[in-house]
Amino acid sequence: MLKLTSFIFIVSLLVANDQVHHFAKNQECKSCHSQIYNEFEGSMHTHSIPQKDPIHNAVWSKHPHNQKEQRYACGKCHTPAANNLDKMKTKGKKALPDVTNVTHTDGISCAYCHRIERIEKHKISNINIIATQEKNYFGTRKEHAKSPFHKISTNENRLMENGNVCIGCHSHKANKFGLNVCSTNIANEMDGANCVSCHMLQVKGSVSDMTQRKTHAFHGFAGSHFHSDMLQKYVNISLLREIDDFVVNIDNQTSHALLLHPLRVGILKVSVNRGGKKIQLKDEVFVRVIGHNGKPAMPWKASTTLRDTMIKANEKRSVKYDFALQKGDSVEVVLGWYLVNPNAAKKLNLQNEKIATDFVEFKKERFEF
Ligand code: HEC
Ligand code: HEC
Ligand code: HEC
Ligand code: HEC
Ligand code: HEC
Repeated sequence: MLKLTSFIFIVSLLVANDQVHHFAKNQECKSCHSQIYNEFEGSMHTHSIPQKDPIHNAVWSKHPHNQKEQRYACGKCHTPAANNLDKMKTKGKKALPDVTNVTHTDGISCAYCHRIERIEKHKISNINIIATQEKNYFGTRKEHAKSPFHKISTNENRLMENGNVCIGCHSHKANKFGLNVCSTNIANEMDGANCVSCHMLQVKGSVSDMTQRKTHAFHGFAGSHFHSDMLQKYVNISLLREIDDFVVNIDNQTSHALLLHPLRVGILKVSVNRGGKKIQLKDEVFVRVIGHNGKPAMPWKASTTLRDTMIKANEKRSVKYDFALQKGDSVEVVLGWYLVNPNAAKKLNLQNEKIATDFVEFKKERFEF
């Protein structure tokens, strides 16, 4: 009997070890990678828990895992370096996001991402397989200086370089109805461009404080919350004037839809300035509304896509305006978004949160005639 219990004990220890890894803290990278560290601290990857993101907090407060189970299963992607991730993922256990726990506030931490060895593909969502060696980080440089703190290696499958390191969390997320609530459509990659080359551009400043290099990969992760100006060049706007009308063309040269999260709503605002007077034309709206029984619903309750007018990967969208332009007219075109669809903002009690209600101006063009 004693033998059997100790056997079970050892087996469960092994299983636990397989799930919980220990990761160096972000703070431990700061002294030698100060610039990368500072960029990273301002990114959504360190604002990934409800306490650091009002939008996440509003959604999480309504989620059944919070209300009924008090278990943050979202940690799989939002706090993957959590020291109690096994509890977060286990039914019947309780584990909430905790702002006093640094393994939670570190978010998608430096050491976590740099230890992703390979990605296991699954239907609901993929799984990141973490290298067991603790202080060995995967990088992409052909030659690098020696680090006194850690080893550096290149993963065999080159996933740090080709962007596949991101798809363990970003590829797709399906709910219990099998509805894909959020997807980046990675099958449609552009030649020479991927998640890393677009979202982590080379910027001025050294890779480490111990070496002098001209540039490093930007770690502020340009996206819909921060630094969207860095991504402007992947979306082109042009205007075609016809006799009785005109057409605005949006050329999305991105390998995924313009916006991915179902809370977002993109808007094209067009106005004509004629003789000092501004004539505002009708807004064009780009959304993917998910829902159930014909009504919009939260991601865990939605069984289908009700409406999808979002600009797709590599799509060239033409929007026609029945308005005859004259000589001397000037047309202003603004493409932007609300992080939270104003229709959902009220339901989520976010109507007074600036981050949710501000219109983000992504790209503005002016055309003179
Ligand atoms: C499979 C990985 C994965 C899981 C599991 C996951 N998320 Fe996310 N979540 C993401 C990614 C990736 C983004 C960024 C998507 C984007 O910006 O398009 C995100 C973004 C969000 C946002 C938008 C935040 C903002 O500021 O706009 C909310 C809200 C959110 N998640 C809530 C949750 C909740 C609640 C859970 C758990 C019930 C959860 N997520 C589970 C990957 C995941
Ligand atoms: C004591 C200093 C020191 C500390 C602390 C440190 N590093 Fe480094 N790291 C270096 C040096 C030096 C290099 C080489 C830089 C170069 O080649 O220009 C480097 C390079 C890297 C690389 C680049 C790999 C490539 O492509 O060549 C990664 C990734 C990395 N470090 C991750 C981390 C992470 C994550 C942490 C914190 C957990 C950390 N480092 C902490 C000194 C340090
Ligand atoms: C362990 C999971 C995980 C991995 C790996 C991961 N991300 Fe994320 N990412 C997230 C989550 C979760 C969010 C949403 C955080 C939030 O909004 O609360 C996010 C948000 C983002 C955003 C949105 C930023 C914004 O301003 O809205 C971008 C861009 C992004 N990630 C790019 C990347 C890239 C590029 C990689 C690969 C180098 C990557 N991510 C790897 C989980 C991950
Ligand atoms: C979401 C994943 C992710 C996170 C989190 C992350 N990195 Fe990186 N990091 C990458 C990728 C991918 C590259 C390779 C970029 C390239 O080749 O252009 C990289 C490159 C680097 C490099 C080499 C830079 C260069 O230009 O060669 C260093 C050093 C580094 N990271 C350190 C860190 C530190 C320190 C943190 C936390 C403060 C961190 N990383 C957080 C994905 C990540
Ligand atoms: C050709 C460049 C390009 C490539 C490749 C690319 N993106 Fe993007 N990404 C963009 C642009 C442009 C936007 C929209 C502008 C913005 O959000 O600032 C965007 C937006 C996003 C957002 C925010 C969406 C939202 O709804 O909040 C996330 C998350 C993201 N990308 C992740 C990824 C991941 C992961 C990959 C790789 C699988 C990837 N991107 C590949 C250019 C690119």
